[in-house]
Amino acid sequence: MLKPNTLASLEKAARQVRKRAYAPYSSFQVGAALEAESGKVFTGCNVENISFGLTSCAERNAVFAAIAAGVATFRRIVIVANSKEPVTPCGACRQVLAEFSDDMEVISVNLEGEKYRAKLSELLPRSKAGILGNPCST
Ligand code: THU
Repeated sequence: MLKPNTLASLEKAARQVRKRAYAPYSSFQVGAALEAESGKVFTGCNVENISFGLTSCAERNAVFAAIAAGVATFRRIVIVANSKEPVTPCGACRQVLAEFSDDMEVISVNLEGEKYRAKLSELLPRSKAGILGNPCST
C-alpha cells in the first residue's frame, strides 16, 4: 500500500523537480507533481528549445511520464513556479490533462506558498464536446 500523499508532499516533489527545469530562454522554471488515482506520483519540469515552439511544459511532461509508466487516471496536479500569482496550466496542458481526468484538481503554488485551486473542468469546460462525436456531460 502506498502512503497517502499530502498536499505538502506533492508540493515538495514539484519544488524539487522544478530545479531540474531546462529554461535557458525564459529563466522561468516550473515543476509539476501529478498524483495518480493509485497514489503514485509522477513529476515533470519544463524543457525549452531554441526553436521556441518545441518547448514542453512541466505539466505535460508529468503526464507523459505517467503514460509511459502505464498510468492514466489522475487525482490532482500541483504546479510550482516563481510567479507573483500562482501559475495555472496553459491551454495546451489543460487539454492534455483533460484527455485523462476531466475532474482532477489543479493546485498552483508560488514560491511564497500562495495557492490557487480549481477543478480542471472549471479551467477547461466542455473539453471534448463534439470532437469525433464525443458527447458532453456538463
Ligand atoms: N510553463 C510551464 O511549464 N507550465 C506552465 O503552467 C506555464 C508555462 C513554461 C513554458 C516555458 O518554458 C516557460 O514556462 C515560460 O512560458
